[in-house]
Amino acid sequence: MSYETLLYEIRAGIAYVTINRPQKLNALNHKAIQELTGCFQEVRGTAAVRGAILTGAGEKAFAAGADINELAALTPTQAEQTALAGQALMNLIESLGKPVIAAVNGFALGGGCELAMACSLRIASDNARFGLPELKLGIIPGYAGTQRLPRLVGKGRALEMVLSGEPVSAQEALRIGLANHVVSLSELVPAAEKVIQKIAANAPVAIRHALEAVHRGMEMPAADGERLEASLFGLCCATADMKEGTRAFLEKRPARFTGK
Ligand code: COA
Repeated sequence: MSYETLLYEIRAGIAYVTINRPQKLNALNHKAIQELTGCFQEVRGTAAVRGAILTGAGEKAFAAGADINELAALTPTQAEQTALAGQALMNLIESLGKPVIAAVNGFALGGGCELAMACSLRIASDNARFGLPELKLGIIPGYAGTQRLPRLVGKGRALEMVLSGEPVSAQEALRIGLANHVVSLSELVPAAEKVIQKIAANAPVAIRHALEAVHRGMEMPAADGERLEASLFGLCCATADMKEGTRAFLEKRPARFTGK
């Protein structure tokens, strides 16, 4: 599959998805949202792919937000549809059932920050900047930034970022829990690969259920989240991988998971 706004390749079970509009700081136009949606549907449907690394082309930006040229011409109805399509992409990534690591290689602003927040975790290069500058444009975040940011960093910090529109540095993102790790730009993709390989060494069904337990569970009252966790725990115990994982531990050898 070839894309106009993305680079996509699969190597050693990892999908590398790169937003490729560096001359526009990888701003997310309509085409990019459409192609990212198609691309992540493919990642979800390809059993051999164990996870994805999402990054931006060039050394300056992960994605500098929605494309403001397109944004400026939207009618209210088109704007609502645009927000819904963007939110659907974020939800697709979050509920993919496989880990998606955002390798944030520069500006992650507006929709770029929202995209990074929809990923399982975020590794930032030391030149990264995270922010939701929408209010500076007379709009509010529309790809669920007002929902995911407070869940990640708490309401007070989220409100400061949303209301001021000011970006935070990679180090500040690390401090407030928006970034999981900060590394040099040259170390960014290797660091993401290391994390994803560690995750991929675990049982695929358990990974899927763990992602679901955390993401869906956080949207429920704690007692319902615990009930969901118990059901998914039960489902794990129906897998061959559970038998293999426990047996391998008892036999003091590495587990050989098959995803069954
Ligand atoms: N949409 C469309 N084009 C964008 C863009 C966006 N969100 N962000 C950057 N670009 C374009 C610029 O218009 C410029 O294009 P040009 O060379 O054809 O004029 C190119 O990318 C380079 O950006 P530039 O502004 O010259 O780089 P800079 O280093 O001076 O500033 C930023 C970098 C990120 C601070 C600045 O580009 C910016 O503020 N971008 C908008 C961020 C934003 O508000 N995002 C939320 C949108 S809802």
